[in-house]
Amino acid sequence: MARLAGKVAIISGAAQGMGAATARLFAAEGAKVVLGDVLEEKGRAVAAEIGDAAHFEKLDVRSEEDWQRVVAAATGKFGKLDILVNNAAITHFGAVDEIRKEDAERVLDINVIGTLMGVKHAIPALKANGRGVIINISSVDGLRGCNGLIAYTASKWAVRGMSKSLAYELGPSGIRVVSIHPGGVNTDMGNPTGEVGESLNSRYTTVPLQRIGEPEEIARASLFIASDEASYISGAEIAVDGGWTAGRFEPHLPGAPASLAVA
Ligand SMILES: NC(=O)c1ccc[n+]([C@@H]2O[C@H](COP(=O)([O-])OP(=O)(O)OC[C@H]3O[C@@H](n4cnc5c(N)ncnc54)[C@H](O)[C@@H]3O)[C@@H](O)[C@H]2O)c1
Repeated sequence: MARLAGKVAIISGAAQGMGAATARLFAAEGAKVVLGDVLEEKGRAVAAEIGDAAHFEKLDVRSEEDWQRVVAAATGKFGKLDILVNNAAITHFGAVDEIRKEDAERVLDINVIGTLMGVKHAIPALKANGRGVIINISSVDGLRGCNGLIAYTASKWAVRGMSKSLAYELGPSGIRVVSIHPGGVNTDMGNPTGEVGESLNSRYTTVPLQRIGEPEEIARASLFIASDEASYISGAEIAVDGGWTAGRFEPHLPGAPASLAVA
């Protein structure tokens, strides 16, 4: 099936992880994809593996010049722009009383301002196209709080909030804007030590599905939102998190998994 036949997409942070999985899936579904990332060698390798439907451009999402070049590459090489996936981000772990200003600023600069600059520079091409989709990758940490992730949480709530405002600003131009909120995902960011099997999934006993997610599972949600099947979805927040933000297991009540049950 070619659910994105004839579409052109830009995906930031596409050298690895979820961004690379999304680029592969979009291309397999008929899209032309421009991959952007600061990791040039890895990004070029992913684009080469995809083939003629893909093109890599060096992109630091903080740079307006880089965004202009990436959008020009999409319209110049593939003729137009239909889809922007703002996927690039970094995380930072630290308690609030220890966090350094420069670390907090870096997280907000890349995750929030980087996303905003992507939108700003994609808008002319999306408007010229007459319609479009912007997918902003937030997180479960854009839906709730979490200790040790204060700057990242602030950034992902900002991405969620911006997406809703953008849905209003851009809807009249036929541009849909959606935030996607992954739970724990098996990438460098979600599994930096490369754990596998039981030792990995044992960290997810509070997730209803009892396991980490795979990058392809998030990519499939982005595929649906990017496709015309989602033509009336805008301003929505889509959790792809194994049920993690649905509520909680109550260990004292029936139905909790054995790993959490209280004797
Ligand atoms: N992995 C998880 O558990 C998880 C959970 C929720 C949300 N997310 C979000 O999913 C998205 C993808 O994350 P991932 O898990 O694939 O992580 P990842 O670290 O594997 O990939 C992130 C990519 O972004 C790129 N990047 C970082 N800074 C950049 C910059 N300034 N300009 C351009 N590219 C830059 C990196 O080089 C990398 O290729 C991110 O927005 C992340 O916050 C991840």
